[in-house]
Amino acid sequence: MPEAPSGGMPDVPGAVTPRAPGWSTPTPGTPEAGEVREMFDRVSGVYDLLNSVMSAGLHHRWRARAVDMAQVGPGSRVLDVATGTGDLALELARRVTPGGEVVGSDFSEKMLVRARLKARTRSLTASVRAEALLAASPGGLSNGAHAAPGVEPRFEWGDALELPYADDSFDAATVGFGVRNFADLHRGLAELTRVVRPGGRVVVLEFTTPTRAPLSLFYGLWFDRIVPLLGRLSADPDAYAYLPESVKRFPAPAALAGELERAGLVEIRYLLTGGGIVTIHSGTVPPVGAR
Ligand SMILES: C[S@@+](CC[C@H](N)C(=O)[O-])C[C@H]1O[C@@H](n2cnc3c(N)ncnc32)[C@H](O)[C@@H]1O
Repeated sequence: MPEAPSGGMPDVPGAVTPRAPGWSTPTPGTPEAGEVREMFDRVSGVYDLLNSVMSAGLHHRWRARAVDMAQVGPGSRVLDVATGTGDLALELARRVTPGGEVVGSDFSEKMLVRARLKARTRSLTASVRAEALLAASPGGLSNGAHAAPGVEPRFEWGDALELPYADDSFDAATVGFGVRNFADLHRGLAELTRVVRPGGRVVVLEFTTPTRAPLSLFYGLWFDRIVPLLGRLSADPDAYAYLPESVKRFPAPAALAGELERAGLVEIRYLLTGGGIVTIHSGTVPPVGAR
């Protein structure tokens, strides 16, 4: 399992496309990677609670739509980049059961600790439930019920701008509310594309700014006033002042679609949901030779 490197990246088995020197250009306006990591380390303890409050619980539905767009199923191998506390990875794990594999990767160790704890707790709860089902049905389970264990995501340290995985390692890759924080958006999208096999999907779930009234008016009030206020409950009020700023400077959906294309993806589609508060983009990795 890759671990936070003390110097240099962990060894990666398999081929990794060599990068030309200086191929990364920081995205203007984004904070430096170290600052972002420290910010997420600090908010890790309240992240899930504030997520649910700030999205009025809708974030689970948005994640489910994103997983639909990844077009994965039982047996698929999927990477969730900037996985944070692992909610998107857990939804993916449900869909790739049985026989699949989900890797959740992030560069904030404190977020990863939360993700691992959540995944373990869910697995244990599911095992206890399965045992209870079996005990209650000594003659075997009927009606399609099964007690097979679900896929548990593996959570590993990884920098999205230099993913520690070989080319074409996954059937799909997702990123939820993460690309906005990448110090270099183009490089992050190119890395997602690199690690997915030809024909596989890359899916990006991200906040966007609604442009139509009345939601745009309510949204301005919510993001500029209420979110920073709620953020004061967290260990890091600055992080929740950063959230609306980062959404405002992030490319609009059509521009982000152009970025996916620039990263080498084809068949790019996007879906505005939550009245335009959230957009889900997907792109397909083209066949070998067409990249
Ligand atoms: C807003 S959280 C989103 C977490 C999760 N995907 C979700 O849907 O709730 C952003 C996450 O991106 C991670 N992140 C930002 N830049 C990163 C990078 N370059 N490499 C790895 N993780 C990164 C942060 O550590 C943080 O956990």
